[in-house]
Amino acid sequence: TLAFFNGEFLPIDSLVIPIDERGHQFGDGVYEVIKVYDGKPFLMREHLVRLENSAKAIRLEMPYTVEQLEELIGEGLTRADLRDAQVYVQITRGIAVRLHAFPDASPSISMTLRPAKSLSEETFNTGVKVTLLEDERWLNCYIKSLNLLANILAKQTASDRGCFEAVLVRDGYVTEGSSTNAYAVKDGVVYTHPANKRILHGITRAAVLQVAAEAGIEVREEAFTPEFLLSADEAFITSTTSEVLAITQVDDTVIGTGRPGPVVNQLHAKFRELIV
Ligand code: PDD
Repeated sequence: TLAFFNGEFLPIDSLVIPIDERGHQFGDGVYEVIKVYDGKPFLMREHLVRLENSAKAIRLEMPYTVEQLEELIGEGLTRADLRDAQVYVQITRGIAVRLHAFPDASPSISMTLRPAKSLSEETFNTGVKVTLLEDERWLNCYIKSLNLLANILAKQTASDRGCFEAVLVRDGYVTEGSSTNAYAVKDGVVYTHPANKRILHGITRAAVLQVAAEAGIEVREEAFTPEFLLSADEAFITSTTSEVLAITQVDDTVIGTGRPGPVVNQLHAKFRELIV
C-alpha cells in the first residue's frame, strides 16, 4: 500500500492531510476508483477523462493533465510493487481557512494504491441480494463528487438488511445502485437508466454497453420501474470493483430462476475479455 499527497509518495499510515483541507471539511472535490489487473490499470484513460469532467462540473481546475496522471499512477504502482490493485484518486479545492466560497488556493491531489479487493468467484456464481430504497441524493449524480453521505446511508441500510447493494428509486424509476449502475433484462433485452444527471455515467456501464452491442444483445437506455425489476428475467449491477454482478434477489422477491442468467453470464464473460 502507498499514498500520495501534493507531490509526495508516503506509506499510507504516515500520510497526514492538513486540517483545513477542503476535501476533509467540505467534501469539496471529486474522485475516481481505478482497478489494476496484472499491472495494467483498466480503462484508466476513461476514468481520468471522467475525473476531468467531474472537476469541470464543479469549477475545479485540474492540477495535472490526464497524461501526467497516467504517469503518476504508473509511478505509484511501480513504487508500491502492486500487480492487482485499486487506485483511488481525489482532487479537491485545496487547503484554506474554512469559508464556503472558493478559496485562493491550489487544488490538492491525493491518491492511495492498495491491493485489489476483488469479489470471489463464488459471489459471481451465486449473485447477490439487493434492497430498494428511495434515492435521496442531489440532482447532479453524474459528477463523481466526494459528497457520498446519501450513498453511504443507503449502502449501510442495505448492509443492515443483509443485502449487497441498495438499488435507488427516484420519482418511481430505478436510477442506479449506491455505488453501482443497475440493469434489468426482459425477453433478452437489457434495460438501464439513461446516462443523464440522475446517474453516474459508469465506466463499466459504457464498457458493458459496448460489449452488448458487439454480442448483438439489444440494450435500451430507458428508465424502468421497481415493479419491472421485480418481474425481470435477470438483473445485474456493474462497477469498477463489482464488474458485472447478477442480482438474484430484490428484497423478498427472487429474480428469474434465482441464479445468474445467460445474459448476465455472457456479458460478464465478454467484459472479462476486455481486461486481458
Ligand atoms: N463507484 N454509480 C455510482 C453512484 C458509483 O459510485 C459508481 C462507482 C458506479 C459505477 O461506476 P464505474 O463503473 O465507473 O466504477 C455507479 C466506485 C467504484 C466507488 O465509489 O467506489
